[in-house]
Amino acid sequence: MDGNGRWAVSRGLPRVMGHRAGIKSVRAVVEAAREQGISYLTLYAFSVENWKRSPREVDTLMRLLSEYLRRELPNLMKNGIRLNPIGDLKGLPAGVRERLRRVVETTRPNEKMTLNLALNYGGRFEILQAARRVAAEVKAGKMKPSDLDEESFRRFLYTEDQPDPDLLIRTSGEHRISNFLLWQISYAELYLTPTLWPDFGKQDFFNALVEYQRRERRFGA
Ligand code: FPP
Repeated sequence: MDGNGRWAVSRGLPRVMGHRAGIKSVRAVVEAAREQGISYLTLYAFSVENWKRSPREVDTLMRLLSEYLRRELPNLMKNGIRLNPIGDLKGLPAGVRERLRRVVETTRPNEKMTLNLALNYGGRFEILQAARRVAAEVKAGKMKPSDLDEESFRRFLYTEDQPDPDLLIRTSGEHRISNFLLWQISYAELYLTPTLWPDFGKQDFFNALVEYQRRERRFGA
C-alpha cells in the first residue's frame, strides 16, 4: 500500500496524513474484494523495516491500526470476514496486540473471506522462523529431513494452509517486491500501478482484476 507519504507531501501535508487517507482505500479494497467473492486478501500494512521510520510516524501507524480494528469490527462481522494477522506479532505494542487478539477471536467463525494483515512482517524472517520450527521438529524426532517437501514446508509459514496469491498489486510506481510473501508469490501475477495508495479505489481494484483475467498463466508449462 505504497505512496501514502508522497500523496500527503504533494499536498503540503505531513506524511502521516497520507496514512490516514490510506485507510479509506483499505476500506474500499476490502469491500471490493468481498463483493467479487475473493477468498483471501493480504494487506501489507507494516514491514519489519518500517521501524526505521520516525517515532512519530510509527506511533501514528500503530494508532491508525488500533482505530481501524476498533471501528471495522462490526463491518467485518457483517461481511463475514475473518481477520488473520501475519508477522512477528510479539514485536507490536501491547495495546495493538490485545486489540488484534479480540478481533481475531470475534471474527474466527467468519467464512466468506480471510483478511491477512501483514504486521511487523518480513518474508525472509517468515521463512527463517519456518526453518527454525522445522529444525526443532526434526530435533524432537517428530519429523525426518526427508519428510520435508514444498507441501509440508508451507504449513510452517504464517499462511499455513492458504492457497498462494494469484495476484500481487503494488501501488505508487514502485517495481520491487520488498520482502513481501517471498515464498508464496512464486507464480503470482504482478500488477504495478503508478496510482498512489490513497487514490487507489474500488474501480482501480476492478481494473487490476480485469487485467489479471487477461493474463495467460502457464506455471512454467
Ligand atoms: C507505505 O507508503 C505505507 C505504509 C508503510 C503503511 C500503510 C498503512 C496504511 C494504509 C494505514 C494503516 C493500515 C491499516 C490496514 C489500517 P509510504 O509511507 O512508504 O509512502 P511513500 O512511498 O510515498 O513514502
